[in-house]
Amino acid sequence: MHKRTIVALPGDGIGRVVLEETIRVLDKAGFDAEYVEGDIGWEFWKTEGNPLPDRTIELLEKHKIGLFGAITSKPKDAATAELDPSLADKGLIYSSPIVGLRQHFNLDICIRPCRTYKGNPLNFIRRGAGNSSEEPAVDVAIFRQNTEGLYGGVEWSNPPEPVYQALLTHPKFVKNFGKVPKEELSISTRIFTKRATERILRAAFEYAQKFGFKSVTVCEKPNVIRETSGMMYKMAQEMQAADFPGIELWNTNIDAQMMWLTKNPENYGVIVAGNMFGDIVSDGFAGLIGGLGFACSANLGEDVSVFEPTHGSAPKYADYPKSIVNPIAMVESACMMLDHIGEAEIAKRIRKSISKVIQEGKVRTYDMMKMTGRADVIKKGAASTKEMADAIIANL
Ligand code: NAI
Ligand code: MG
Repeated sequence: MHKRTIVALPGDGIGRVVLEETIRVLDKAGFDAEYVEGDIGWEFWKTEGNPLPDRTIELLEKHKIGLFGAITSKPKDAATAELDPSLADKGLIYSSPIVGLRQHFNLDICIRPCRTYKGNPLNFIRRGAGNSSEEPAVDVAIFRQNTEGLYGGVEWSNPPEPVYQALLTHPKFVKNFGKVPKEELSISTRIFTKRATERILRAAFEYAQKFGFKSVTVCEKPNVIRETSGMMYKMAQEMQAADFPGIELWNTNIDAQMMWLTKNPENYGVIVAGNMFGDIVSDGFAGLIGGLGFACSANLGEDVSVFEPTHGSAPKYADYPKSIVNPIAMVESACMMLDHIGEAEIAKRIRKSISKVIQEGKVRTYDMMKMTGRADVIKKGAASTKEMADAIIANL
């Protein structure tokens, strides 16, 4: 059998080191693969005017699976100012390459599991009865629609005339905004399609079934956002009744869900939401299980899939002589990749090893020691990125 090829997309800043260490863990865990490096990120914006070169798209088209570190993004004007002088007057406009990847390959299903590791000093602790304290075990998987909704990019300030005329056909627009001068209007749309909604819902139910979760919660706001949230909830009801009668369907509003987050996080299993609410609720749950050093994700399309930690490139740590950041979020993202490509046994071994390292508590990165991130945390006893990877490898 020929080896599987993975497109390694290190990107910028700490993305490079966490990916390198993760590949070391994968190798030692016995995952037999070849890695081809795909160019992505700030350097390619500066030198080529494109942070996502076509050759990288072609690599992913060919090999289908990407393991992505993180990239640096900057606001439009700052980006233009850093372009190579030879590109300066070409009218190039920066846009995020990870968003570009999601759109190009229609990576519409985003999964963000948030699972407590026993013994992680960053676990959420809650006050119980009397003056007791409780550490609820969170095991939640958030399914976020990744391409539509409020992040779909269909928006205007001072909308063009045909758009404005169309809005005037809606009685609520006339009543609430009809007297506002057009130049003073900014509009961002929230578009849901049946096809994408069906895909994210089905993915959530199938995951619940596969991994034995008892419930799927639609976390939206159907009582107020009647059309989009309402459609998602209605489709979920129909799908549950027809195809997943053994799984309970719950319905929470995003605002109430954030309030309940710390009250009873252990009650939730699979949560499914549109793009923005999924973004919010997944960061909320990630905070309960250790934050950015632990938050992993998968972006799944029909053809191509990309696995990445939730964190960014943390540029202020990128040039430390010894990298201090926690590689676990990246390693966990790689485990999601292994599950996806039928290497669940290796993923299980790696997770077990992470669990052992955390429970032993001897090797902890600065975030786990609740230190402020600075180069001297190593001197104060924090493990480096490499030492954490070494510990995971030693426990495999
Ligand atoms: P960030 O996630 O890079 O860092 C925020 C803070 O979180 C860091 O200063 C650090 O204290 C902590 N942190 C992040 N990763 C960590 C890890 N593995 N271990 C321990 N601590 C960790 O977000 P920030 O500072 O807002 O953005 C930095 C750059 O990253 C920006 O250019 C931003 O656009 C980009 N970004 C890229 C993302 C991606 O590639 N998917 C996602 C988020 C931000
Ligand atoms: Mg986010």
